[in-house]
Amino acid sequence: MTEFVTLAQIDEASAAVRARLEASPRVGMILGSGLGSLADQIEQPVHIPYRQIPHWPVSTVIGHEGRLVAGQLEGQPVMVMQGRSHYYEGYSMSQITLPVRVMRRLGIDIVIITNAAGGVNPSFEPGQVMLIVDHLNLIGMAGLNPLRGPNLDELGPRFPDMSVPYDPALRQLALEAAQEKGILLQQGVYASLAGPSFETPAELRFLRSAGADAVGMSTVPEVIVARHAGMRVLGFSGISNKANLDGSTITTHEEVLEAGEKIAPQLLSLLRGVLRRLFA
Ligand code: HPA
Repeated sequence: MTEFVTLAQIDEASAAVRARLEASPRVGMILGSGLGSLADQIEQPVHIPYRQIPHWPVSTVIGHEGRLVAGQLEGQPVMVMQGRSHYYEGYSMSQITLPVRVMRRLGIDIVIITNAAGGVNPSFEPGQVMLIVDHLNLIGMAGLNPLRGPNLDELGPRFPDMSVPYDPALRQLALEAAQEKGILLQQGVYASLAGPSFETPAELRFLRSAGADAVGMSTVPEVIVARHAGMRVLGFSGISNKANLDGSTITTHEEVLEAGEKIAPQLLSLLRGVLRRLFA
C-alpha cells in the first residue's frame, strides 16, 4: 500500500462495503479503545471484518475488534467501526483516514467519533465523558496532516476551513441528551499526539498550558478528513485516566480498557439520545 490513498482505492473499498449493506447508512460512528461493546447494541447487524475490505487498515491493538457493524440504532441505519487503526501502528495518515472517506462515498454525511483519552483538565475524573468542542492537531502542526499529498478534489478543497470542526448543532443535541439522561458531560479541547508512548509529566504540563483538556492518539486525523469532505462531526472522549502532570502515577492500556466499561453505557445513552433528536 502506498502512503497516499487514491480515490480509486477509496471507491474499491466503498464498493466492497456497499455490496454487503442492506440499507444506506445515514450516520457513521467510530468506536475507540474499550468502547467497542457499543456495537453490540446495533440491531439487525451485518458484520464486515476489516480484512475483507480492500485497502482498509486493519487494527492490531487489543480492545479494537476490527470490523464494521452496519444495522439500525434508534431506528436509523448506521455504520459503526468497531475499532480503528492508528498512526502508531505503522500506517500512513492517509491510510488511517480511508474509512472516513469510504463513509463519505457511501453517502454518510454525519460522523460520530469517539476515543479513550487522558484527562489533562484536573477537574476531569476517569469514567467521565467529554464532548469535544475543538482540538489541537499537534501531529498535524508538526507536519503529519492526513491531507498531505495530492488533494482529492472530488472529496474537498486543497485548503479546507477548520474554524468549526465540531458541529455546534450536533453538540447541542448531545448536551440535551446528557441533561435528559442525567449524564455529566464535560466539554473541552482534545489534543492528539502520535503515541504509542504515553506523555511525560513535562509534556502534559505543556499540553495543559496550551489549552488541552484531554489527550489521546486518534480522532483528529479522522475529523480533518471528514471536514475536508464537508461531513458534520460530533466527537466524544471517554476519560480513562487522569493525566499524570506531576509524575506521581503511571498510565496503562489496561486502565484505559477498564474505564471503557464505565464509559460505554454513558456513551451509548448519549448516542441514542443524539440519534433520536437528529431524526425526530
Ligand atoms: N494519553 C494518551 N492517550 C490516551 C491516554 C493518555 O493518558 N489515555 C487514553 N488514551
